[in-house]
Amino acid sequence: MRKLTNILVTGGAGFIGVNFIRFLLGESAASNEFKGRIVNLDALTYAGNLISLKEIEEKFGGKRYFFEKGNICDHTLVEAIFRKYDIDTVVHFAAESHVDRSILSPETFIQTNILGTFSLLEAARSIWKDTEGVLFHHVSTDEVYGSLGEKGHFSENTPYAPRSPYSASKAATDHLVMAYHHTYGLPVTLSNSSNNYGPYQFPEKLIPLMILNMLEGKPLPIYGDGRNIRDWLYVEDYNNAIWTIMQNGLAGEKYNVGGDNEWENIKLLNKLIDIVSAKINSDADALRSTITYVKDRPGHDRRYAIDCYKIKHELSWKQSVNFEQGLTCTVDWYLSNRDWTENILNGEYKRWIEKNYGGR
Ligand code: NAD
Ligand code: TYD
Repeated sequence: MRKLTNILVTGGAGFIGVNFIRFLLGESAASNEFKGRIVNLDALTYAGNLISLKEIEEKFGGKRYFFEKGNICDHTLVEAIFRKYDIDTVVHFAAESHVDRSILSPETFIQTNILGTFSLLEAARSIWKDTEGVLFHHVSTDEVYGSLGEKGHFSENTPYAPRSPYSASKAATDHLVMAYHHTYGLPVTLSNSSNNYGPYQFPEKLIPLMILNMLEGKPLPIYGDGRNIRDWLYVEDYNNAIWTIMQNGLAGEKYNVGGDNEWENIKLLNKLIDIVSAKINSDADALRSTITYVKDRPGHDRRYAIDCYKIKHELSWKQSVNFEQGLTCTVDWYLSNRDWTENILNGEYKRWIEKNYGGR
């Protein structure tokens, strides 16, 4: 098992990163295993939010948790952080992560996702050289494999066929990370996961967007015919998979992670309506009447489905949260954290929505 003592978490103020830091320093079983320090490097773009880590900062700030505001593309800064904290492990979450934004303005996706990853890899290569026990874990997505028809699953051997600027930029980074392993011997692992959901997710993504629109009485926008399929995984299960790979995954290997939980968007929305309407004591049919079919996303991938035999059998990972529990916890979280959501809904995001979707 690796030591994993001084961990650089990039993008630790975003959805999965926040949950990862809370997972390692909070009350999970992993927090009993991890005794080291976490350095969170985040540029605090629209998607980054330090309020999500307030309790962590209060309890561990300056002792086992350190925040550095900065851009992963800033190579001088990245190298300085490696040296200052004696970093032995990188978990690389930082990215532009939303497909719709990548269609509207792809440039930052190329910069952050590709050049940012390059900058981190270069720092790891030059500072770690032949140091033993170090690890660069790259957090990636199943979207690199493209779009499935009605049958089949993505395995680790599925050829890459990304179709959006987002997935193309992530595919590029996966190749770069692997290339650093093969060419320079950098110890790397990769995880390619299906759609995550859970607390602290920015409300441009399907599940929180729908929950908040229901609470605000806004239309529920479904792209195209609503029959695109995604596989959904609770964020804590993904973070547990990442932690498992970091400890026991083989260098140079990639692991697919999924929830065996495929849903057509429209069926998922109906399930969410049932949960929300029961929680807020409102009429499910009235909520259903606000479903609005809107113009499809260009190049909209039809179906994602993951075969995660490898991580289950080689690393004994399994998910622990079923969809019913996970969705209920997620709805509860958004209902009881209205300050967090109001802050986002009334800030820069509101202007972005107005500009790009006329206030939807
Ligand atoms: P997110 O958009 O919620 O958070 C991204 C974080 O990265 C933010 O805190 C942002 O401030 C930070 N960031 C962006 N650009 C930066 C830069 N140049 N320098 C430093 N920090 C920067 O994303 P997420 O949903 O938490 O996703 C995290 C990672 O997981 C991404 O790499 C994404 O591709 C991958 N992933 C996400 C999902 C999902 O369903 N959300 C699924 C599979 C893989
Ligand atoms: P999203 O959460 O953006 O994740 P991804 O595109 O990375 O899978 O979208 C999930 C699915 O929901 C996808 O098929 C697009 C669809 N969708 C809608 O129908 N309406 C929406 O408002 C959004 C944001 C997504």
